[in-house]
Amino acid sequence: MKILVVGAAGTVGQGVVTELARDHDIISAGRTSGDLQVDLTRDESVEALFRAVGAVDAVIAATGNVHFGDLRAMTPAQFTLGLNDKLMGQVRLVLIGQHYVNAGGSFTLTSGILAQQPIAQGVSAMAVNRALEGFVEAAANELPRQRINAVSPTVLTEALEHYGPYFPGFESAAASRVALAYRRSVQGIQSGQVYRVW
Ligand SMILES: NC(=O)c1ccc[n+]([C@@H]2O[C@H](COP(=O)([O-])OP(=O)(O)OC[C@H]3O[C@@H](n4cnc5c(N)ncnc54)[C@H](OP(=O)(O)O)[C@@H]3O)[C@@H](O)[C@H]2O)c1
Repeated sequence: MKILVVGAAGTVGQGVVTELARDHDIISAGRTSGDLQVDLTRDESVEALFRAVGAVDAVIAATGNVHFGDLRAMTPAQFTLGLNDKLMGQVRLVLIGQHYVNAGGSFTLTSGILAQQPIAQGVSAMAVNRALEGFVEAAANELPRQRINAVSPTVLTEALEHYGPYFPGFESAAASRVALAYRRSVQGIQSGQVYRVW
């Protein structure tokens, strides 16, 4: 399959590319990295990405920034970061990409364990992850030609140095294990699913 991976150079994305490049053609994209550059917060940039890539069999989004911080000090602008970047970035990839992904193809988005398990400073992350999972569940009913799923990882082992203090007592998962859920979404038959790796 020809698979577009946005966020391919990230912690999650690197694991996905390592796994899927064994037997698929990967086109990697990132804001500044990869075969092609894209800014998922801008329609024109996403349109240009798909025009450059052409028809693909699968699109994977392993992207998304949210603000981590105490709710009592959070500003609307900080909360909006997650809406514009993680939520709308991935949604934009689907809204525009549906016209480029082959029939029988798929979208795989990325939410996260914080959709169901709140942590301190994680209000924005929880809201955005739940919204993404809601989008996937509903969109699966209205995408007649393609499937759509989400992968919800726990904190990655490779990210513990950075995110570990936010996740006291949580089990981490290796990027290689998380990547299997993306393979399952791309090569499986289900749609509207959230594959939880936790
Ligand atoms: N890491 C974890 O433990 C973990 C756990 C659960 C869920 N997640 C979720 O998994 C996703 C990826 O996390 P990560 O830790 O792998 O992130 P990361 O290491 O920071 O990598 C993010 C990737 O996305 C690209 N990117 C960022 N903003 C973009 C934009 N506006 N347009 C296009 N590309 C953009 C980056 O491009 P550049 O390479 O050019 O910077 C990079 O390749 C996020 O949604 C995160 O919430 C992560």
